[in-house]
Amino acid sequence: MQTERLKSIRNSFDQHFGGKTQIIVRAPGRVNLIGEHTDYNEGFVFPAAIDREMIVAASSNDSGTINAYSLDYDKDDSFNLSDIQHSQEQGWSNYLRGVMDTLQKGSYPLKGLNVVLSGNVPQGAGLSSSAAYEVAIVTVCNILFNLGISKKDVALLGQKAENKFVGVQCGIMDQFISALGEEDAALMIDCRTLDYKTVPLRLSASGHSIVITNSGVRRGLVDSEYNARRQECNLGTKLLSELTGRSMTSLRDATLSDLEKHSSSLPDKVRRRSAHVVSENQRVLDAATALQAGDIASFGRLMNESHISMRDDFEISCPEINVLVELSQNFPGVAGARLTGAGFGGCTVALVSNDEVERFKASVIPEYETKTSKKAEVYVCTATAGASTIERA
Ligand code: GLA
Repeated sequence: MQTERLKSIRNSFDQHFGGKTQIIVRAPGRVNLIGEHTDYNEGFVFPAAIDREMIVAASSNDSGTINAYSLDYDKDDSFNLSDIQHSQEQGWSNYLRGVMDTLQKGSYPLKGLNVVLSGNVPQGAGLSSSAAYEVAIVTVCNILFNLGISKKDVALLGQKAENKFVGVQCGIMDQFISALGEEDAALMIDCRTLDYKTVPLRLSASGHSIVITNSGVRRGLVDSEYNARRQECNLGTKLLSELTGRSMTSLRDATLSDLEKHSSSLPDKVRRRSAHVVSENQRVLDAATALQAGDIASFGRLMNESHISMRDDFEISCPEINVLVELSQNFPGVAGARLTGAGFGGCTVALVSNDEVERFKASVIPEYETKTSKKAEVYVCTATAGASTIERA
């Protein structure tokens, strides 16, 4: 599949800019196995990079102009490094604009670029197509202009572009896993220190596959609701600091016993938001231990518990996702299933025993359609390496 895409990327590059690319880079999307909305609370997450990616072909120019062609939108865009503005008309180009602006503001020496972009991470589905895009562009610049940026800083710069230029207050998880992901492994990331542990997935040994199901519900309200959750978590931190008399910088510092002790003094919504984050952090730690021990049953149970917590306490699910999770959990051979990503639509992730995957597709998709009138799509994915160079002239 990648070979075909590369062929058309090279052809478009030649048509648009004449000649060959100096570099072709890929950066993957991700699936988060467990640990949702914990990253911006300085907690733990457990994602894997997936075999869906953004590919960027590029060569540098001396005009200081960024000339871009999106193969997916069949659209061109051009802007100069001396004047990088947000574009109303060319929404797809804002990630590119944002990354170039962020690098420039970080005093990295840049030149003009000719780029062709093409991605196959479904958009608005909670699989981090935008992080893949940002990380791919930072990586292209890093290599082409010899910027010497470490992988962690590639992730942080991508996140900064999203926070400051695109305007979504996301945490670090998506860009981190897109930059540092490892083949056949998930990373248990401590979002406070940015230390991480590589946990081999070894799913073939246990006979399971990671099955992502796209609900077909595009994440609505995500920006406003996402930012609202962040504020509620900050309020939880502030109130718990006051109530416990311990200074907390984030919900990472709170414990379940703090919440139990002070539950009647916290507004109900804040208590439930905080309960999700605090319990989810513990589930991530337990899930990593379970996976390392090859205990898929416990891992699956934690995924199911995570879904309940997201649905009832953090309130980031939606009726269609709940139908999909329930159908998945009730299907034979499924160890666990949950919403993955920011929420309000998007995808579910399930661990399905290999010999049930085809039956899972044949049964869950039509049942979901009967119940919701929506068409779901299933991606059986493998865990891949983070951003890398495909070719370099
Ligand atoms: C989005 C954000 C991440 C993270 C998840 C929820 O994907 O970009 O930083 O907060 O939502 O876990």
